Amino acid sequence: MSTGADRWRGVIAIDGPAASGKSTLARRLAQELGLAWLDTGGFYRAAALAALRAGADLEDEERAVEVVRRRMVSQEGSRILLDGEDVETEIRTPRVTEAASKVALLPGVRRIMVQMQRGWVEERGGSAVVEGRDIGSVVFPDAPVKVYLTAQSDERTRRRLAELGDAREPSAVQESLARRDRTDATRTASPMRRMPDAVEIDTTTLSPDQAVERVLGLVRATRLAR
Ligand code: DC
Repeated sequence: MSTGADRWRGVIAIDGPAASGKSTLARRLAQELGLAWLDTGGFYRAAALAALRAGADLEDEERAVEVVRRRMVSQEGSRILLDGEDVETEIRTPRVTEAASKVALLPGVRRIMVQMQRGWVEERGGSAVVEGRDIGSVVFPDAPVKVYLTAQSDERTRRRLAELGDAREPSAVQESLARRDRTDATRTASPMRRMPDAVEIDTTTLSPDQAVERVLGLVRATRLAR
C-alpha cells in the first residue's frame, strides 16, 4: 500500500485523550502507508519547555507568546526538536507534561503551533498521519480520514504506568490523566472533542495491530469512495 502511484494522499487525523493509544496507532499507520507522522502534543510540550526555560509565567499569555514566537518547533523521525535541539527526552518529564497542558490553554500559543504544524505537513506534500486533540476540528478540518480514539480510564492508566516503568502510584497517574482530560476537553480554545465526521474507535480491548487494521479499513473505504 505504501509504494507506487496509488500512495495515500492527504491527512489522516487521529484525535483523542492522553494514553488512548494515539501515538502507537499513528506511528504504525504511518509506517504501513509510507507517510510521515506528526505528534502535535510534542509541539505543545516543546512550547512549554521553552516557556519554562525562559522562566515565563505559564498563565501570562502575552509573555508565553513572546517566548514561543521566536522559537522553531519541528519533528524529525520520532524526535521533537526545539530550534534544532533534540528535546524528545526532556519534554516527557512530569514537569513539562503539566506545563504543556497549561500553555495549550493559550489561544495565542495555539495559533503559532497550528501554523507550524500546517507548515510541517505542507513541506511533506500535504500527506501525513497527524495526532493530537484538535486535528480534525481545527488544524486539518478537511482531513479525508478522521479518527477519535478512546479507551477506558483503567486501561489508559495501565498503559501509562507501563510507559513509565511502573515507577509511580497508579491512583496518582489515573488522577493526572483525568485532570489533563478535563483541562483539554473544557478549555475555550480548541477543546478536545469528537467531530461528527470522525469515526470513534475504543481501543480498550484492541491490540495495536487490531487498531491499525481498523483504520486501514477506513483508509481503503475512503479511497474507494474518492
Ligand atoms: O498528547 P500529549 O500528552 O503529548 O499532549 C501534551 C499536551 O498538549 C496535552 O495537555 C494536550 C495538549 N495538546 C493540545 O492541546 N492540542 C494538540 N493538538 C495536541 C496536544
